[in-house]
Amino acid sequence: MEQKEIILGVTGSIAAYKAAELANNLTKENILVHVIMTAAAAEFITPMTFQTLTKNKVYVDMFEKVDYPDVRHISLAQRASLLLIAPASANTIAKLAAGIADNMLTSVTLASPKTPKILAPAMNTAMYENPVTQDNMGKLAKYGYKFIAPRASRLACGDTGRGALADVSEIIEITLSSL
Ligand SMILES: Cc1cc2nc3c(=O)[nH]c(=O)nc-3n(C[C@H](O)[C@H](O)[C@H](O)COP(=O)(O)O)c2cc1C
Repeated sequence: MEQKEIILGVTGSIAAYKAAELANNLTKENILVHVIMTAAAAEFITPMTFQTLTKNKVYVDMFEKVDYPDVRHISLAQRASLLLIAPASANTIAKLAAGIADNMLTSVTLASPKTPKILAPAMNTAMYENPVTQDNMGKLAKYGYKFIAPRASRLACGDTGRGALADVSEIIEITLSSL
Protein backbone atom coordinates (compact mmCIF):
# COMPACT_ATOMS: atom_id res chain seq x y z
CA MET A 1 0.00 0.00 0.00
CA GLU A 2 1.26 3.50 -0.84
CA GLN A 3 2.66 5.27 2.20
CA LYS A 4 0.56 8.24 3.30
CA GLU A 5 2.29 11.54 3.91
CA ILE A 6 1.11 14.14 6.35
CA ILE A 7 2.38 17.49 7.55
CA LEU A 8 2.63 17.98 11.29
CA GLY A 9 2.84 21.67 12.13
CA VAL A 10 4.21 22.51 15.57
CA THR A 11 3.87 26.02 17.00
CA GLY A 12 5.18 27.93 20.00
CA SER A 13 3.22 26.44 22.86
CA ILE A 14 4.39 24.86 26.07
CA ALA A 15 2.54 21.77 24.75
CA ALA A 16 5.02 21.48 21.84
CA TYR A 17 6.75 18.57 23.59
CA LYS A 18 3.57 16.51 23.18
CA ALA A 19 3.96 16.83 19.40
CA ALA A 20 6.98 14.51 19.72
CA GLU A 21 4.66 11.73 20.85
CA LEU A 22 2.31 12.55 17.98
CA ALA A 23 5.19 12.38 15.48
CA ASN A 24 6.40 9.12 16.97
CA ASN A 25 2.98 7.43 16.99
CA LEU A 26 2.07 8.58 13.48
CA THR A 27 5.43 7.34 12.14
CA LYS A 28 4.77 3.95 13.76
CA GLU A 29 1.48 3.86 11.81
CA ASN A 30 3.65 3.82 8.65
CA ILE A 31 2.88 7.46 7.85
CA LEU A 32 5.64 9.67 6.46
CA VAL A 33 5.48 12.71 8.73
CA HIS A 34 6.88 16.02 7.50
CA VAL A 35 7.29 18.20 10.58
CA ILE A 36 7.20 21.96 10.10
CA MET A 37 8.03 23.99 13.19
CA THR A 38 7.67 27.71 13.73
CA ALA A 39 10.68 29.54 15.12
CA ALA A 40 8.78 29.86 18.41
CA ALA A 41 8.20 26.08 18.52
CA ALA A 42 11.95 25.56 18.22
CA GLU A 43 12.31 27.50 21.51
CA PHE A 44 10.39 24.71 23.22
CA ILE A 45 11.63 21.55 21.49
CA THR A 46 14.44 20.91 19.03
CA PRO A 47 14.08 19.94 15.37
CA MET A 48 16.52 17.07 16.11
CA THR A 49 13.85 15.37 18.24
CA PHE A 50 11.38 15.31 15.36
CA GLN A 51 14.00 14.44 12.77
CA THR A 52 15.02 11.39 14.80
CA LEU A 53 11.47 10.24 15.50
CA THR A 54 10.19 10.71 11.95
CA LYS A 55 13.45 9.78 10.17
CA ASN A 56 12.65 12.72 7.94
CA LYS A 57 13.78 16.27 7.36
CA VAL A 58 12.28 18.90 9.65
CA TYR A 59 11.50 22.39 8.36
CA VAL A 60 11.85 25.54 10.42
CA ASP A 61 13.48 28.16 8.24
CA MET A 62 11.71 29.07 5.00
CA PHE A 63 14.94 30.41 3.48
CA GLU A 64 17.30 27.63 4.57
CA LYS A 65 20.06 26.94 2.01
CA VAL A 66 19.16 23.50 0.68
CA ASP A 67 20.44 21.04 -1.90
CA TYR A 68 17.10 20.17 -3.47
CA PRO A 69 15.79 22.10 -6.46
CA ASP A 70 12.03 22.17 -5.78
CA VAL A 71 10.08 24.94 -4.08
CA ARG A 72 9.50 22.97 -0.92
CA HIS A 73 6.51 24.81 0.57
CA ILE A 74 4.60 24.06 -2.63
CA SER A 75 5.83 20.48 -3.15
CA LEU A 76 5.07 19.57 0.46
CA ALA A 77 1.58 21.04 0.11
CA GLN A 78 1.03 18.90 -2.99
CA ARG A 79 2.28 15.66 -1.41
CA ALA A 80 0.49 15.70 1.91
CA SER A 81 -2.86 13.93 2.37
CA LEU A 82 -3.54 15.88 5.54
CA LEU A 83 -2.22 18.85 7.49
CA LEU A 84 -2.31 18.61 11.27
CA ILE A 85 -1.21 21.50 13.46
CA ALA A 86 -0.76 20.40 17.06
CA PRO A 87 -0.32 22.35 19.20
CA ALA A 88 -1.80 25.31 17.30
CA SER A 89 -0.98 28.64 18.94
CA ALA A 90 -3.35 31.61 19.07
CA ASN A 91 -0.85 33.50 16.92
CA THR A 92 -0.70 30.90 14.14
CA ILE A 93 -4.49 30.50 14.18
CA ALA A 94 -4.80 34.28 13.75
CA LYS A 95 -2.29 34.29 10.90
CA LEU A 96 -4.07 31.48 9.09
CA ALA A 97 -7.44 33.22 9.50
CA ALA A 98 -5.90 36.33 7.89
CA GLY A 99 -4.22 34.41 5.05
CA ILE A 100 -0.76 35.37 6.26
CA ALA A 101 2.15 33.28 4.93
CA ASP A 102 5.24 34.61 6.70
CA ASN A 103 6.90 31.32 7.65
CA MET A 104 7.16 27.77 6.34
CA LEU A 105 4.11 26.49 8.22
CA THR A 106 1.74 29.33 7.30
CA SER A 107 3.02 29.25 3.69
CA VAL A 108 2.42 25.52 3.29
CA THR A 109 -1.01 25.87 4.87
CA LEU A 110 -1.98 28.69 2.53
CA ALA A 111 -0.71 26.60 -0.39
CA SER A 112 -2.99 23.69 0.65
CA PRO A 113 -6.56 24.93 0.13
CA LYS A 114 -7.88 21.46 -0.76
CA THR A 115 -5.92 19.44 1.83
CA PRO A 116 -7.92 18.41 4.93
CA LYS A 117 -6.69 20.48 7.86
CA ILE A 118 -6.97 19.67 11.55
CA LEU A 119 -5.94 22.11 14.26
CA ALA A 120 -5.52 21.21 17.93
CA PRO A 121 -5.29 24.55 19.77
CA ALA A 122 -3.38 24.88 23.04
CA MET A 123 -3.13 28.12 24.93
CA ASN A 124 -4.00 29.96 28.10
CA THR A 125 -7.77 30.06 28.79
CA ALA A 126 -8.01 33.84 28.34
CA MET A 127 -6.27 33.58 24.96
CA TYR A 128 -8.57 30.72 23.94
CA GLU A 129 -11.77 32.40 25.09
CA ASN A 130 -10.81 35.78 23.69
CA PRO A 131 -13.47 36.67 21.08
CA VAL A 132 -10.72 37.40 18.57
CA THR A 133 -9.41 33.83 18.82
CA GLN A 134 -12.96 32.44 18.74
CA ASP A 135 -13.73 34.53 15.64
CA ASN A 136 -10.52 33.35 13.97
CA MET A 137 -11.40 29.71 14.61
CA GLY A 138 -14.97 30.32 13.38
CA LYS A 139 -13.59 31.81 10.18
CA LEU A 140 -11.24 28.86 9.61
CA ALA A 141 -14.09 26.41 10.34
CA LYS A 142 -16.05 28.08 7.54
CA TYR A 143 -13.14 27.29 5.22
CA GLY A 144 -13.35 23.64 6.25
CA TYR A 145 -10.70 23.47 8.98
CA LYS A 146 -11.49 20.93 11.71
CA PHE A 147 -10.69 21.69 15.34
CA ILE A 148 -9.92 19.29 18.16
CA ALA A 149 -11.08 21.22 21.20
CA PRO A 150 -8.63 21.75 24.04
CA ARG A 151 -9.27 20.21 27.44
CA ALA A 152 -10.13 22.06 30.64
CA SER A 153 -7.26 21.51 33.03
CA ARG A 154 -4.79 23.22 35.33
CA LEU A 155 -2.52 24.90 32.77
CA ALA A 156 1.24 25.35 32.79
CA CYS A 157 0.76 29.07 33.55
CA GLY A 158 -1.07 28.16 36.78
CA ASP A 159 -4.57 29.10 35.58
CA THR A 160 -7.33 26.50 35.53
CA GLY A 161 -9.62 26.38 32.50
CA ARG A 162 -9.98 25.35 28.88
CA GLY A 163 -6.80 25.51 26.82
CA ALA A 164 -4.78 22.35 27.40
CA LEU A 165 -3.93 20.40 24.26
CA ALA A 166 -6.38 17.55 23.63
CA ASP A 167 -5.10 14.10 24.57
CA VAL A 168 -2.51 12.76 22.15
CA SER A 169 -4.58 9.56 21.76
CA GLU A 170 -7.62 11.59 20.67
CA ILE A 171 -5.55 13.60 18.16
CA ILE A 172 -4.07 10.39 16.72
CA GLU A 173 -7.48 8.74 16.45
CA ILE A 174 -9.04 11.72 14.64
CA THR A 175 -6.00 12.07 12.35
CA LEU A 176 -6.02 8.41 11.34
CA SER A 177 -9.76 8.37 10.73
CA SER A 178 -9.43 11.53 8.57
CA LEU A 179 -6.78 10.02 6.30
C1 LIG B 1 6.54 29.84 28.21
C2 LIG B 1 5.62 30.22 27.08
C3 LIG B 1 4.54 29.41 26.83
C4 LIG B 1 3.66 29.76 25.78
N1 LIG B 1 2.61 28.93 25.54
C5 LIG B 1 1.75 29.27 24.56
C6 LIG B 1 0.63 28.44 24.29
O1 LIG B 1 0.43 27.36 24.89
N2 LIG B 1 -0.22 28.82 23.32
C7 LIG B 1 -0.06 29.97 22.60
O2 LIG B 1 -0.90 30.26 21.74
N3 LIG B 1 1.00 30.78 22.82
C8 LIG B 1 1.90 30.46 23.77
N4 LIG B 1 2.98 31.26 24.00
C9 LIG B 1 3.18 32.46 23.16
C10 LIG B 1 3.67 32.09 21.78
O3 LIG B 1 4.89 31.37 21.86
C11 LIG B 1 3.84 33.37 20.93
O4 LIG B 1 2.58 33.95 20.69
C12 LIG B 1 4.54 33.08 19.61
O5 LIG B 1 4.63 34.31 18.89
C13 LIG B 1 3.82 32.05 18.79
O6 LIG B 1 4.44 31.97 17.52
P1 LIG B 1 4.02 30.87 16.45
O7 LIG B 1 2.54 30.94 16.28
O8 LIG B 1 4.75 31.32 15.22
O9 LIG B 1 4.51 29.56 16.92
C14 LIG B 1 3.89 30.93 25.00
C15 LIG B 1 5.02 31.69 25.27
C16 LIG B 1 5.88 31.36 26.29
C17 LIG B 1 7.10 32.22 26.53
